[in-house]
Amino acid sequence: MTTNNGFTPGLEGVVAAETALSHVDGLKGELIIAGFPLAELAAKATFEEATYLLWHGRLPTQTELDDLKQELAALRPLPSATLNLLREAAQVHTTPMDALRMAAATLDLGSSHTDPLTTGKMVVARVGTIVASYHRLRQGQPLITPDATLGHAANYLYLLTGERPSEARVRGLETYFNTVIDHSLNASTFAARVIVATQTDLVSAITGAIGALKGPLHGGAPGPALETVFEIGTADRAEAVLQAKLDAGERLMGFGHRVYKVRDPRAEVLGAAAEKMYQADGDMALYELAKAVEATAVRLLASHKPGRNLQTNVEFYTALLLHGLGLDTDLFTPTFAVGRTAGWLAHCFEQMKNGRLMRPQSRYTGEMDREWVPIAAR
Ligand code: COA
Repeated sequence: MTTNNGFTPGLEGVVAAETALSHVDGLKGELIIAGFPLAELAAKATFEEATYLLWHGRLPTQTELDDLKQELAALRPLPSATLNLLREAAQVHTTPMDALRMAAATLDLGSSHTDPLTTGKMVVARVGTIVASYHRLRQGQPLITPDATLGHAANYLYLLTGERPSEARVRGLETYFNTVIDHSLNASTFAARVIVATQTDLVSAITGAIGALKGPLHGGAPGPALETVFEIGTADRAEAVLQAKLDAGERLMGFGHRVYKVRDPRAEVLGAAAEKMYQADGDMALYELAKAVEATAVRLLASHKPGRNLQTNVEFYTALLLHGLGLDTDLFTPTFAVGRTAGWLAHCFEQMKNGRLMRPQSRYTGEMDREWVPIAAR
């Protein structure tokens, strides 16, 4: 919405950057990642391949991929200062996203890396270690040493659980990471670009992006979508429970989107990934229940808000997929950050290459011509 004096609240509709990283078409329900339709990339690439693609604009050769995997694996262990901070945060019951934001800021402590690509690799490698280590510290469980023979997604699950995950679970998580790796100029990505555009360092930009993602209007809570499925319990109760929520003026969690006016392409990809994973290594009854809840919700929303086209969004199947991977709901947003970090960094690299200091203007609405009043006379 633009007002007549050029002020655009929330910068809605303003084009503030050019990018070759991802393209969102909300009317067509299309998400392109570096030239690949999401469905072409997400279920095929490893997380390292998708990262390489965003950072270099093309898929890696086998040697390039092996090198990146090795480098990331070697960079996973956390500095002791970061671990000490996480231990203290666990003692005072800091939330996982707050702990991640605090710990991310320590990542370049003692680091001699000045090359942005090396710093980027270190950040991607360690964000997963932070989230998983903090989870274990909060549970009072011993920390697991990263396994350099595992890829990024497999190692993340290993650090969380202490068990080497099945292939089906690793594929499920890789698909999730690739699906959320980038989504054009969302709030956290914009924040990262604004910060790095001042020519400050990458760790500052990623810390700021995590801070932005932490807000409920962005990182959101796929948790409530899953809670609704559990509350419904059996498919025959879906209609009554969902209708009662709509009658009470509640929104159905996991449905509707500000940009997508058709089905969110990420829901499509994650739904297919969840089905595969649950079939191979999960509770198929829960998957079937979620499908029934989804179908009922879409049908009820169509008659509740005719013409609005309220469809399933990314949160619904994120919740189902991450739950199927054994993740607690308070790990959902930090796990999103683990995948999105590679996209934030890709935008930082792009901004550093082509960008200009971001310095919009504000419209002054305050008073003018006030006169100074000495303190004794106020
Ligand atoms: N359940 C019930 N009604 C919904 C709804 C939902 N999930 N999503 C939108 N609506 C209704 C709104 O109440 C509003 O009704 P009104 O015009 O009578 O006030 C209308 O549809 C607005 O639709 P729209 O403009 O498309 O939504 P928005 O841009 O304001 O909101 C969301 C987008 C995502 C915030 C919204 O769909 C929502 O709250 N969804 C549930 C939460 C969720 O899943 N969030 C994760 C998003 S990825």
